Formats: sequence, structure tokens, C-alpha cells
Amino acid sequence: DWNSGNVIAEQVERIRAQIGSGRVISALSGGVDSAVSTALVHEAVGDQLTAIFVDHGLLRKGEREQVENDYVASTGVRLITIDAREQFLSALEGVSDPEQKRKIIGREFIRAFEAAERDLVAEAAADGEPIRFLVQGTLYPDVVESGGGTGTANIKSHHNVGGLPEDLQFELVEPLRTLFKDEVRAIGRELGLPEAIVARQPFPGPGLGIRIVGEVTADRLEILRDADAIAREELTKAGLDGEIWQCPVVLLADVRSVGVQGDGRTYGHPIVLRPVSSEDAMTADWTRLPYDVLSKISNRITNEVREINRVVLDVTSKPPGTIEWE
Ligand code: XMP
Repeated sequence: DWNSGNVIAEQVERIRAQIGSGRVISALSGGVDSAVSTALVHEAVGDQLTAIFVDHGLLRKGEREQVENDYVASTGVRLITIDAREQFLSALEGVSDPEQKRKIIGREFIRAFEAAERDLVAEAAADGEPIRFLVQGTLYPDVVESGGGTGTANIKSHHNVGGLPEDLQFELVEPLRTLFKDEVRAIGRELGLPEAIVARQPFPGPGLGIRIVGEVTADRLEILRDADAIAREELTKAGLDGEIWQCPVVLLADVRSVGVQGDGRTYGHPIVLRPVSSEDAMTADWTRLPYDVLSKISNRITNEVREINRVVLDVTSKPPGTIEWE
């Protein structure tokens, strides 16, 4: 029978056998899979592992701190953060098309990761242990979906930032290859990872970059980050996290509508709440949230985020709507 302690012990053995005294790197995204696979490898080989976290500026409020502080404190993983916020913003300047954004974000992610990796390679070469291994948080469903292939970095289609270039010559370490998501969460808990990371709902690799309909700018990101944080806080407080698969909060940056606040007329942006219930994200239904929770979120966002004067609820199932707006 399944027991997270046994799986950990077994994987630690396998990882040690694979890596030996070699050096290994890992890309953390803030998500569950990369967090747990990295923690397992650290459990096995300690500081032979270096984790790289790229802050692309498209993260939600508090996510960088969660990784840099809470995750590191609970695992002891040696972490390098790359602050690539400026790089991503300038690459995204003037771009509104969703697929174009995805391409740019994916490309810039690889550039940032490679720059960090080059420094590490130089450092590693100096002490005679080259970096030969790369951790990947591939789960069993990913293996099935991609036809079971292994060997080279094999990334989930167009989707995943955290997708690394094919020409990186690393041997992959994939300790989650036989596991399902709930098993990965159980292992994460057993390893003592922060609950905020272990229980995290799905969040797209391109992050808030595909939740601003229109061009991505620093100001718009700030607005969206604030509104998103309020929505998440209230949903959690209401005990609704278990009912919701995920709840994108989307800024309609090119839309303005007239409002009134105090004595003044406003001309602000609408924000969309997109709470969905789903089993696997292939299909979804909009979550029937209690009116009082919706009302609380709406009041708080319009009071606390000055540029938002309207909160709207997306009541479309998937299909025909997708979960994300872009
Ligand atoms: P859609 O919008 O296609 O989303 O209904 C289905 C699931 O995939 C996530 N998603 C992404 N994840 N990179 C990702 O890593 C992406 O570009 C991307 N686009 C959508 C979405 O959040 C949902 O869970």
C-alpha cells in the first residue's frame, strides 16, 4: 500500500544511484511539482544541487518571498534567484497577442535560466565536478500524455514556462515520474514544505502575463497583483479553496467604464473573476460562489485598488470558454 515515507526513501536511493557525486541544477517555478522534485533531490544529494528561480515579474503577490524564504527555510535548498523583471517587461513591450506573449515569455525564461546556468557551469568546472543533471518535475500523467518518452528535456507542448531548451546537454532526474498530483502533494507535506506551496492551485507558467488582456506593463501588473491577492485572500478565508480548481483574476486593461466614487466620476478598468470547478482542466464549470463572498471581494477590490471601478463575474463553462482569458 501507498505510503509517502516509503516513496521518499525509495526515490532518495534511486536519485543517489543516478547522480553519484555529480552536480545537479533545478528550475523552481513556485509550483508544486518543481518544489517537490527539487526537495526530493536535495534530500538525496544536499548541496550537490543548486536551484534556480527566475523572477519574471509575472508572479503573484508574495510568491517570490514564499520560495526565497519559506521554501528555503523548510528544505535548506541552495537557491539562486535571477531578477529578470526588467528583461521580461522590455521583451513584452507593445505585445498584446496571447500566443506572442507566451512565445516571448518562454524564450526569455530560457535566456535567463541559461545565463544563470553558465555561471554555475564555470564555477563547477573550476572544482572538477561538471553539472550533468537537471531536475524535472514530470508527473505520471505528463509521461502518458507525451507517449512515455524520456532522455532529453521533454516539455509539455506550448504550455510550460519552466520548459528548458532541448540543446541543454543534461541527463534528466525525474523523481515524480510514477506519481499523481495528490501523491506529490502528500510527499511535499511529508518533506515539510510550506502548505501554501503544497496546496497551490494550478497557475500558468506565463503567469499574470496572460491575465492582462492587452499589453503587459509594470503598472498594470501592479493593479492585477493587488486585485488577485484580495480575491485569493477572501476565497481562502471563506474556506472555498477546496471547491475551486483555480480562480483566474483577469484585468481588461484596454477597457474603461464610467463609475462614481465619492463626488467624483471615475473612468477605470474592469476586473474579471473566473472561479472554476474542474477535475483535470479539460472541462470546467463556473463555481457558484456565495453572493456574500463575491460581494466582499468586489467591495474590497474597488475600494482598495484605485484603478478598478468594476468587478465582473465570468459565468461561462469550458467549453466553450477556456479557463484563462488568453
Ligand atoms: P485553458 O485556459 O486552456 O487552461 O482552459 C487549462 C489549464 O492550463 C493552464 N494554462 C497554462 N499553463 N502555461 C501553463 O503552464 C500556459 O501557457 C497555460 N495556459 C493555460 C490554465 O491555468 C488551466 O489550469
